[in-house]
Amino acid sequence: MTYGNYLRLPDLLSLQSGPEGYAPPSNHEMHFIVVHQAFELWFKLILRELEEAKVKMGQNEIGEEEIRLVVQHLERVSEIFRLLAQQWKVMETMSPIDFLSFRDRLGTSSGFESWQLRQIEFVMGLSNDDRVGGMNPLEHMKKLSDEGKISRDIYNEVHRIASSASLNDVLQDWLSRTPIHGSQPFDAEDANVVSTYIEQHIASMQNQIDVYVHHATTIGHMSEEQLRPRLEANITAAREFFFDEKNNVQRNRAGLLFIESYRHLPLLSWPQRLLDCFIELEESMLLFRSHHARMVERMIGRRIGTGGSSGVDYLDATSSYRIFKDLWNIRTLLVKQSATPTLANIEYYDFSKNRI
Ligand code: HEM
Repeated sequence: MTYGNYLRLPDLLSLQSGPEGYAPPSNHEMHFIVVHQAFELWFKLILRELEEAKVKMGQNEIGEEEIRLVVQHLERVSEIFRLLAQQWKVMETMSPIDFLSFRDRLGTSSGFESWQLRQIEFVMGLSNDDRVGGMNPLEHMKKLSDEGKISRDIYNEVHRIASSASLNDVLQDWLSRTPIHGSQPFDAEDANVVSTYIEQHIASMQNQIDVYVHHATTIGHMSEEQLRPRLEANITAAREFFFDEKNNVQRNRAGLLFIESYRHLPLLSWPQRLLDCFIELEESMLLFRSHHARMVERMIGRRIGTGGSSGVDYLDATSSYRIFKDLWNIRTLLVKQSATPTLANIEYYDFSKNRI
């Protein structure tokens, strides 16, 4: 075995000459091809890590050891996205005029057609409803496959991933099994324990608002009429978030609140780390998107993209995507630790009362 054989370097290094029939690329075009290929290689690894994380998270019971492994997968992906967010800088060593010298050769091809990015979005759980203009990438891929522009195998793989449970789906299932005040979903009194917990939490939010309004009006910062409706909008938001149409508590969301509120408890230390990793993952992906948009703005200004989108405006709009929405939303609804409802069954979470 040699270095070159192990890495299949002769194959890898023979793939930068541009599509068949093209003259050998200029220095700038070669750079353009290499940077794209490097991104796609990283996408391949991201996809693998996310799939592994999903399989581990998708089990009915997940031990701490496995949570640790999921954390490892997600941390690697976030690190790759951070790296990729910086990699756009290499592209910026090319001037807009240099890019224009070969842009026409791209025709209508565009990063838009990167099926690996679409697979990453599907694995994570981005729904079509949340995409710009309700875009349907699967339909687009089908069209490309029907026209013989991508292989059927690629389309089938995108289809498989798009129709499987996503990372967000398995995360929600896992959250819904969170022991709340020591109560588990199968316990007879669970529904009562969970709804009492949520009512206590909302009461605590209300109390925090009352204290704040009293303070702000006493020091003359704002009038009660200005302040109270804005703050109490969060109470309405909390009710909409935690309760479904039948007024039942959504247990996954109660579980999420519980882990975020009592994250100092030993039993919750891996779960809270895991939730932080999901936020980190999404944040790093958003920064990757937004840095792409800045590079594109510098390169082509406000031209439309080769794929036919509005260009920078489209790319900026994708930076507002949120997949793990609950994880973002819960942040508005937390109260400080000293105001959280008193914890019952504290032993369950591994702290004896006198150690707190
Ligand atoms: C000169 C460099 C580049 C320019 C001017 C550029 C421009 C654009 C534009 C305008 C779009 C929107 C779709 C369209 O209408 O075409 C787009 C999408 C995209 N580009 Fe780039 N790009 C560049 C480099 C890259 C590189 C190096 C990658 C790495 C793989 C990349 C990956 C993507 C992806 C994945 C999308 C789809 C984004 C989405 O739909 O969320 N681009 N690009």
